[in-house]
Amino acid sequence: MEGNMGTSYKLSSDANEMDRLATQHRMWCLLIGGLYPRQLQTSIEDLLLDESSSILDVGCGSGIWATEMAMRFPRSAVIGFDLTEQHYTGNLPNFKFIQGDLAHGLPQSFKGRFSVAHCRCVAQHVSDPQALVKEIAGCLKPGGILILSDGDWVAFDANKDLLVPFRWDPNVDEVTQANNEQGRSWYAGWLEMFERLTRSPKYQPVDTLVRESGQFSGIQYSRYFSPINWPGNDIEHGEEIGRIMNRNMREFFENGVTPMLNSGLSQKMIDIWRTKFEEAMDLHLYNVWHVTSARKNGHSAKL
Ligand SMILES: C[S@@+](CC[C@H](N)C(=O)[O-])C[C@H]1O[C@@H](n2cnc3c(N)ncnc32)[C@H](O)[C@@H]1O
Repeated sequence: MEGNMGTSYKLSSDANEMDRLATQHRMWCLLIGGLYPRQLQTSIEDLLLDESSSILDVGCGSGIWATEMAMRFPRSAVIGFDLTEQHYTGNLPNFKFIQGDLAHGLPQSFKGRFSVAHCRCVAQHVSDPQALVKEIAGCLKPGGILILSDGDWVAFDANKDLLVPFRWDPNVDEVTQANNEQGRSWYAGWLEMFERLTRSPKYQPVDTLVRESGQFSGIQYSRYFSPINWPGNDIEHGEEIGRIMNRNMREFFENGVTPMLNSGLSQKMIDIWRTKFEEAMDLHLYNVWHVTSARKNGHSAKL
């Protein structure tokens, strides 16, 4: 393995968090048009028609994507890899979970074995995201497809203009800060703070990571806006996505209280932040999500 991917995962992996990720998975499917981006349908299905095909989900969490892929492609062998073992439902003969820490790389037995590799909302949590992408590339067959996706820590208003984040200043008392927000967004500020707490300083956008790995061709990138607690403007499935995001972000806030306390934020400030956060849920905002797909070099097929 090149570089050290380290174990610095700051979010919890308990049942509540897995529940939240399952709901978020539903939103991903609505956003991108299924388990993988609509535009990859033919390429993925062509690859997975082969009986010897296999699928890898790196940082699979609850395994919801991997097990749904196992149901969709019963002739493919699907492996979910994660730090934490969960309770996988379905008892599917073609799904297997392997526990491991990316800090030690992916198992040697994975090398050159997979037709499709998926890694969603994981790269920013390892200390060397570029090393992770190279490691996954090493597990794909030539011509195999990588889908690398991630959320982002910025927020947009109803016109999709980027919001300026409110910045918590540890040297100013809580009430003064709360009264001196100068029109900046608390929601964007909370996202930015969370980014500082949880994202690897070496992180780069998913398409950059894939391009700079030098291992892929046919790189495609899409970004998707998800409205929070409103249907958005011209967003397909906006109503359901808006409902899911309302629940998702509230749960995410609560799951993030411990990391916030650990970072030195006072309980009083967290309570103020929670009130402002609640208000933001009614402001017609968007979050954004990124998906990159590409084909491992060494094969002539196009995406
Ligand atoms: C935000 S969750 C995403 C889960 C899943 N991919 C999804 O989209 O629902 C990030 C996952 O990465 C896993 N993870 C983080 N660091 C890891 C590491 N060093 N080795 C293996 N898994 C790791 C976590 O255990 C967690 O399940």
